[in-house]
Amino acid sequence: MLLCDRPELSLASANAKLLLAEGLASVLATGALADPAMESGERYRNPTEVQMSQLVLPCHMNHRGELSIGQLLKWIDTTACLSAERHAGCPCVTASVDDIYFEHTISVGQVVNIKAKVNRAFNSSMEVGIQVSYEDLCSGKQWNVCKAYATFVAHSKATAKMKLKPLAPQTEEEKTEYSIAAERRRMRLAHTDTIKDLLTSCTVRTERESGDCNTVVPVEQTRVESVELVLPPHANHQGNTFGGQIMAWMENVATIAASRLCRAHPTLKTIEMFHFRGPSQVGDRLLLKAIVNNAFKNSMEVGVCVEAYRQEMEVNRRHINSAFMTFVVLDQEGQPIILPMVKPDTGDGERRYREASARKKIRLDRKYIISCDQTKVPLSVPWDQSNKVYLSYNNVSALKTLVAKTNWGLATEIDKVRMYTLEEDKSLSFRIERTTNIDAKQAFFLLSDLRRRHEWDSFYASAEIVQQVDEDDVIYHVLSQVISQENKSQDFIILASRRKPCDEGDPYVVAFRSVTLPTHPPNPAYTRGETICSGFCIWQETAELTKVAYYNQATPGYLRYITTNIAGLSSDFSLTFKACERFLQKNKDDIAIRFQNL
Ligand code: COA
Ligand code: ADP
Repeated sequence: MLLCDRPELSLASANAKLLLAEGLASVLATGALADPAMESGERYRNPTEVQMSQLVLPCHMNHRGELSIGQLLKWIDTTACLSAERHAGCPCVTASVDDIYFEHTISVGQVVNIKAKVNRAFNSSMEVGIQVSYEDLCSGKQWNVCKAYATFVAHSKATAKMKLKPLAPQTEEEKTEYSIAAERRRMRLAHTDTIKDLLTSCTVRTERESGDCNTVVPVEQTRVESVELVLPPHANHQGNTFGGQIMAWMENVATIAASRLCRAHPTLKTIEMFHFRGPSQVGDRLLLKAIVNNAFKNSMEVGVCVEAYRQEMEVNRRHINSAFMTFVVLDQEGQPIILPMVKPDTGDGERRYREASARKKIRLDRKYIISCDQTKVPLSVPWDQSNKVYLSYNNVSALKTLVAKTNWGLATEIDKVRMYTLEEDKSLSFRIERTTNIDAKQAFFLLSDLRRRHEWDSFYASAEIVQQVDEDDVIYHVLSQVISQENKSQDFIILASRRKPCDEGDPYVVAFRSVTLPTHPPNPAYTRGETICSGFCIWQETAELTKVAYYNQATPGYLRYITTNIAGLSSDFSLTFKACERFLQKNKDDIAIRFQNL
């Protein structure tokens, strides 16, 4: 068995151990890491990369004596915009900035280093990836401050919408970012609807989290309203207000609202997506409004909303931005203090109070998924309706990261079925591929339906749908034919997430990962198996030919199974893949498959 989505079984090929050693050798022999930097002997530099270094001066500080986040946001936006314009060759505007988590604060005298590069160009928009670190000039040490992704839209003089030239990623890191940028874009564009959907569908705890019950602050006391006049220094040469300037003004009013709750100097920890809904220009007045939406034990959420208007038309205010920021208050040891409880206003205040709780839950769930150590059992993460979009993103991006790796080494080839391996610090992966005569889309539909897997993979006994999450995500309960060491059949709860190509040249992707579901706890009749990351990548190579590749990632904890479980099945992978090919061929003209998937 090779094509099962379980590391312990999938890699359970007798000579996997040998193949792995060979695989590594072949990587070294072929020099598979095609880093253009190394080839030319010079340090490779992405052509869209822009760097900014700023010495933090007293004029950049906030009241806590740290670099003001508003100032940092201005520098981030400028660096990212220059990178976008370098690629686009014309002026660009900020459309959005994804969630930012700040890991460190920065003091006067330190140097902030910002690096930005375009990860991917879509039609008129581009994703720019930004890395922020700071440097202590005396010790020479560096620390990460945050990572951010911003989307810029190119504005040419022509009235027609611009079509940007595509990027050609070179290094492994660039290929990974390029591939996952499509996933982030998908999440970003669905963000408003996702949040709306969640807030209406999910049941949020309405009881107060314990805070300092001795002090209850009515949120009304934290309300801030402030106006800014957009002057030429706040705008670009076309008169559009800089996105960074707007974010800095937003951070300013949010900090005032947070301070009014805690009567201390708060520290900004996270910002949730800035979406620039419409432009503003020199001469506009910007009305900024902020209020604390909810206070939890150690953190509070402040919401900010921005409207723009011309002096002569104050009644016609345009809503141009809203954002939510999380603050903490740190004591002298840097530990968060317990915050007062809040009393929301009736109406909008109650709604925002509940919505802030929902956003906090989503944030914590995401943090948990990110922090999961993929080398430790259990590998599964809990599936939850409120985090379905993120889990789907996480599933597909893990597979795309594996696909973009450059260190794959050809381990063996039998009947045109090739097996590659990839050995890394904490994981061991393999990929099996073959080119076949079928339409890629048809292969995609056939392989993404796990209920049909038993037709070609002898290790699948059955798979039934537990939940059709949406058009592209399905949770299955899979029963395997394999008997575990406890002499029981194995079962799995698997989230299957599929993606059609975002652009020409992109593959079709079907990703699998284990999740836990409260409705399907482990059953004593079975041994619960897990898969961390596996799936298919399908490339249309010519009008007739399609390359189908299967990927599976295992962790060291499972290697013992791999090398001891099954002996002498060296051609197993090719037999399974051949069975897969026969299945695809048999169903290649089945029109019903397409109709089912429309
Ligand atoms: N996040 C990321 N990208 C977004 C987005 C969002 N929330 N909303 C739209 N976009 C992208 C679209 O995907 C599209 O990209 P594509 O061409 O690569 O497919 C692009 O923006 C244009 O979308 P379109 O639907 O044609 O236009 P729109 O009416 O949604 O306008 C903006 C998008 C960004 C141009 C418009 O909202 C705007 O002008 N915002 C203000 C920009 C600004 O002033 N920024 C701050 C000061 S520089
Ligand atoms: P919502 O009300 O759905 O949260 P908005 O975009 O209207 O979305 O506002 C975003 C946030 O801005 C609100 O959650 C709130 O914290 C803050 N806000 C909105 N209106 C006001 C106001 N009039 N005064 C103070 N803060 C406001």
